[in-house]
Amino acid sequence: MSNADLEKRPADVSAMFDRVSRHYDLTNDVLSAGVAPYWRTRTRRTIDPRPGQRILDVAAGTGTVSRILADRGAEVTALDFSEGMIAEGIRRHGDHPRIEFVQGDATDLPFDDGVFDVTTVSFGLRNVQRPMQALREMLRVTRPGGRIVICEFSTPGNPVVRGAYNAYMTYAMPTIVRAVSSDPEAYDYLFESIRAWPDQPELARWLREAGYEQVAWRDLTYGISALHRGVKPLDPTA
Ligand SMILES: C[S@@+](CC[C@H](N)C(=O)[O-])C[C@H]1O[C@@H](n2cnc3c(N)ncnc32)[C@H](O)[C@@H]1O
Repeated sequence: MSNADLEKRPADVSAMFDRVSRHYDLTNDVLSAGVAPYWRTRTRRTIDPRPGQRILDVAAGTGTVSRILADRGAEVTALDFSEGMIAEGIRRHGDHPRIEFVQGDATDLPFDDGVFDVTTVSFGLRNVQRPMQALREMLRVTRPGGRIVICEFSTPGNPVVRGAYNAYMTYAMPTIVRAVSSDPEAYDYLFESIRAWPDQPELARWLREAGYEQVAWRDLTYGISALHRGVKPLDPTA
């Protein structure tokens, strides 16, 4: 997929993730220089999963976050539109009693209103063609007073860190990707999508616009990623 394809056509995005599904998690760990597990732990702490809680993991991929949440006792629905990612997720975690994999589209969630205590999305919203529609859908399926937690690449605030990070993305990452990935072109798309993604305040604005309140974020690793959170109003009409 070339840089010009950033309109993120759903069929292309889904097919791309089908192709990388088998080595996706390994490539992620290598590319993030080992910090991805730390970001996932921070995501889990922010979600604070409890036994009996119903959590929807949107664009769940191979279910890495779903697994961490389900291991804490939550009932997790892992939704993704890539058949390949879902198949890999089922291969790894399909026998877990509290994870259900569902193939579906984040912009048209196949669930009733207000059925989840928490919805979450890790490194997925950036890939969705209509992210505002996905945020509205996540709000719809959350119970009043329930929460959203988003973990996504973001923008380092410190110019020195930003410069070093951009240099890593431009020069080091492509070399690493060619060595470890089964589909280096897919990662060209990844870099471009990170560059085009809104910064922390803008994503917070999107959340408010979608209808969330108490919106806040926390930088991870100097803002290379960020954790955004919000709450569905108890009375959305108030
Ligand atoms: C970078 S992966 C992230 C996977 C996982 N959340 C993780 O943290 O490892 C992005 C995922 O978003 C999924 N995706 C993109 N657009 C989607 C959509 N509209 N509906 C459902 N899944 C989508 C892709 O299939 C892919 O599995």
